[in-house]
Formats: sequence, structure tokens, C-alpha cells
Amino acid sequence: MTATRPGPRTPVWAELQAHAERLAAVPVSELFERDPKRFERFSREQAGLLMDLSRQRLDEIALAKLCQLADAVGLRERIDAMWRGEHINSTEDRAVLHVALRQPPGAAIGGADIEKLVAAERARMLAFAQGVRGGSIRGSAGEAFRLVVNIGIGGSDLGPAMAVQALHAFTAGTPRCEFVSNIDGCHLAEVLESADPATTLFIVSSKTFTTLETLTNARTARAWLAGRIGEAAVPQHFAAVSVNSAAMDTFGVHPQHRFQMWDWVGGRYSLWSSIGVSLAIAVGERHFLDFLGGGHEMDEHFRTTPWQDNLPVLMGLTGVWNVNFMSLPTLAVLPYDDSLRRFPAYLQQLQMESNGKSVMLDGQPVECQTAAVIWGEPGNNGQHSFFQLLHQGTPRAALEFLLPARSSCGNQPQQNLAIASCLAQAEALTNGQSAETVGAELGRQGLPPAQIEALVAHKVDPGSRPSTLVLFARLDPATLGKLVALYEHSVFTQSVVWGINAFDQWGVELGKRLTEQLTPAVRDPGGGHPAPTAVTKLLGTVDRWRRGAP
Ligand code: F6P
Repeated sequence: MTATRPGPRTPVWAELQAHAERLAAVPVSELFERDPKRFERFSREQAGLLMDLSRQRLDEIALAKLCQLADAVGLRERIDAMWRGEHINSTEDRAVLHVALRQPPGAAIGGADIEKLVAAERARMLAFAQGVRGGSIRGSAGEAFRLVVNIGIGGSDLGPAMAVQALHAFTAGTPRCEFVSNIDGCHLAEVLESADPATTLFIVSSKTFTTLETLTNARTARAWLAGRIGEAAVPQHFAAVSVNSAAMDTFGVHPQHRFQMWDWVGGRYSLWSSIGVSLAIAVGERHFLDFLGGGHEMDEHFRTTPWQDNLPVLMGLTGVWNVNFMSLPTLAVLPYDDSLRRFPAYLQQLQMESNGKSVMLDGQPVECQTAAVIWGEPGNNGQHSFFQLLHQGTPRAALEFLLPARSSCGNQPQQNLAIASCLAQAEALTNGQSAETVGAELGRQGLPPAQIEALVAHKVDPGSRPSTLVLFARLDPATLGKLVALYEHSVFTQSVVWGINAFDQWGVELGKRLTEQLTPAVRDPGGGHPAPTAVTKLLGTVDRWRRGAP
């Protein structure tokens, strides 16, 4: 642990506040006017990504202070502790070693035993994935699998679902992958509607193998399959990934179709483990290894690069700057590649489940805001929906643009339009347009002065909406690996600044427990099962409407 308490008690925090006050009055456009070399000073090309921070409301002094903050809270020691496999997830007494999942041979991250375990399980998983892809592993009637249905939720769904979508360009000719997560069963029903049981493989992904949504859907899928092609077919049509071998036994998962993960891999950091088996089936071994390789390259960059050039650290510190010093509690993530359409949802779990905390490692209340609220959509879709608020609304958000230079689908002319849209929005949201500019333009259009006067205020765009732009050549497996690891380490950096545990998630347990308690009353409202009064009242109406009564 560090000598100083992280968060606002860090001595440099007050200095940062003073710099924030100084900069709050300076439009970002003015920062560009003051320094013709601003882009060069605030962009970094590292590990094949270009991160442009020039549109943040920051100057070099403030950025240097943020780097001092990283030193003051002991980021270096915390990174080393993670890599050494120390139990930095203190409330669950666990190591945090997702970085070990993407290590190349000989790296011994987490120790030689862990390296061996990871390599062996990865080899088993990849052999299985290759067998399913290539048709050597088949269904009970001897037919190759054409549909893979991943049943999982949270980290056992969002990561693989996002990645299979993102790497669609690398999936030609392989089984189609669907990802089913929700408890109401409707998505599963929709997927099963057109599924052929003889050619469908279900993968039950659940670290704990106790999650209500996943187990309920898995049982429904099992009953569907058994009802159509017989109970005996189940072992050949189900695979599973979990730490819980006993529960996989109970479910009847064939020993060769089950894959191990470990308690030192957090759910939202597990895409790199066998939880990524659907991704491996979709893109194949070589691309899956490239994805891991991209993650490892970012790990090494994060572990060894000075803060001033360290992309995850810079991204994390900029996030802290916006949340704590610029009063921007939300972050819109805007990919300009439709293949990344699930990326904001993936980041919501990564960032908000990790850093949505209000006590520090020692159990004392935090003394500042923590995680930003993450939201977003593919950029052009957002432009025609919520960008109005970004430009002129009273709530203000920080922004992250993700931009590939090359098309993911071979349609470069249309990608060029996406690039133009992204850069135009970055410019517009930075510079805005003043009353003078608006007035002059309306004048040129020949509007009478009274009309100009009435319109000007409505058309002024204040600008200075701070943004980071991450540019990359193309969304290939290695680049996706780098992007995911970039965000993982940025989240970790922020957690260290705030002095919180990014790797537990106690807040979600209460809702799970209450759901269990209320389920009998929901099934049978008249059965005298205990429930709070407000719930009992609602259930009265639920029951009436459920029976079709008016
Ligand atoms: O919602 C809480 C959570 O525990 C997440 O952290 C996790 O990713 C998800 O549920 C699914 O858990 P499991 O993989 O154990 O089914």
C-alpha cells in the first residue's frame, strides 16, 4: 500500500483542482489557438493505436500533474502486484490474473504453474473449437454443427458476443453464433424457432454455474433438444465453461466438452479464457491467438511504458480528470464501425461493475465520485438520435470516439464517410459555433435582422465537449485484443486512483437474493408467501392480467 490515501487526500489532488478551475474558463478551441503543436503534444501512437487527447480540456501542466497523481497513489506498485498474482481482489481474497490468459510461452505471468494450466486448457479449448469449426466434432446424428448458441450472461455473454460481432469479417463459412442471456426466455425461443437440433451446439458459459438466467435458459434448451432428438443426444450437443465442475456434472456435460476457468479470472475479464470458446469457433485458432497476442502487446505496453506515453494510463487519468475535476459524470463511447455495436454494452459492465463502488479498499467511504456512467452507440446512429444533447443539451458528457481507417467489410468508400462523420463531430463538439458565426451565416442567407436575432441563440453550439479519439488501422483480431486490454487497464488505473477494488461486485448480490425470495410469491400470489406490501399489491394486478382478466 502507498503512504498517502488515494483519492482527494492525495496531495496533488488540490493542485489538480486549481488547474481545473484555471482551465474551466478556457474554451478547448482556444487551447488549440494558443499552441499550434497541440495535436503533436497530446497524441500518442503506441502499440499500433493512435490516441488523440488534444480535444480534452487539458494542458501539459495538468497532464503532468495527473501523471504525478498516478505516482502518488502507487499505480506502479499496484500493477506489479497484479502481475505477481497478489490477492489484489481483497474482498474475495483472489488474485487478478486475466493478463496470464494472454501470455505467450515462457512469460510465466502468475507463476510457472499458472502458465502451464492456462496453456493446457487453452489447447483443449482450441482443439474443441477447431473440431466444431472443421466438422470433426459432430452432433449425435453425425451432422456437423451449423449453429452455436452461447448461453451466459454478464461477462459470460457480453465479451464473446461483442467480439464475435466485432470480428464478423473473420468468420466466413463457420457455424453461426448466437448469444442468449435474458431470463424471460424470449430470445432463446426466437433462436430455437429456426434451429435444427441435429446441428445445434449449446455452450453453457457460467463462471459459477449458479446464475439464475443462465441455468434457466440452459435447462430450457436441454428440454428442447431432448424433446426433439432424445435425452441421449444431450452430451454431444452441450459444452460448458465454468469453475464449478460439480455443477457441470449435475447438468450432464460430457467431460471432453467442459472447460475450466479459475477464480482468479473475473467474469468481466474472462473473454480471454475458455469463455471465449464461441469466439474461437467463430474466428478459428489463428485469429483467436492473434486476439490474445494483441491483448498481451497492450499488457506489455501498460506494464513498461512511462505514464506520459502509456495509453491505458492516459485514458484512465483523462477519465478521472473528467469525472472528478471537470464534473462530467457520463462518458459516451462512439465507435465509427458498426461491427463494434456491442462495444458500449460490453464496456458498461467492464467499467461500471468494476468501478461502481463507494467504499475504498479499507471499507471507508470514498471521498469523490467514482466510475463514469458509460453509454453509447455506433457514431452515425447516435448522430441522428442523442448527439443533439451532446451538442446543445444541459447535461454534458465526455466522449470517446473509436475510429478505424479501413473498412471492416471491404466497403472503403462508405467507411470514408464514417471517417468524415467522426472527424466532423469531433471538430464540431470541440469548436462549436459562436453567435457571431451563426449571425453572419444567417445574414449571408438573406434573413432579415429580426429573424436572425430570434434564431441565433437556438443555433449557437458552445463546443468544448471534451473527447478522446482512438484511431486504428483496421478492426482485426489483434487490434480488438489491444482495444479490450486498453480499456481493462484504464479501468484498473482509475480504481487505483480512487482506492477502490475493481474486481468484486457485491452490489449485484442483493437483487439476486431478493429475486429468489420473491419467486414463490410471483408464481403463486395467493399462496401466502412472504413479500413486501408494495410487491403484494403489484402482484395482485400482475396475477389478474396474467389470467387475462381486465
Ligand atoms: O451480475 C453479476 C455477475 O456475477 C457478473 O459479474 C458475471 O459476469 C455474471 O454475473 C455472470 O456470472 P456467471 O458467469 O457466474 O454466470
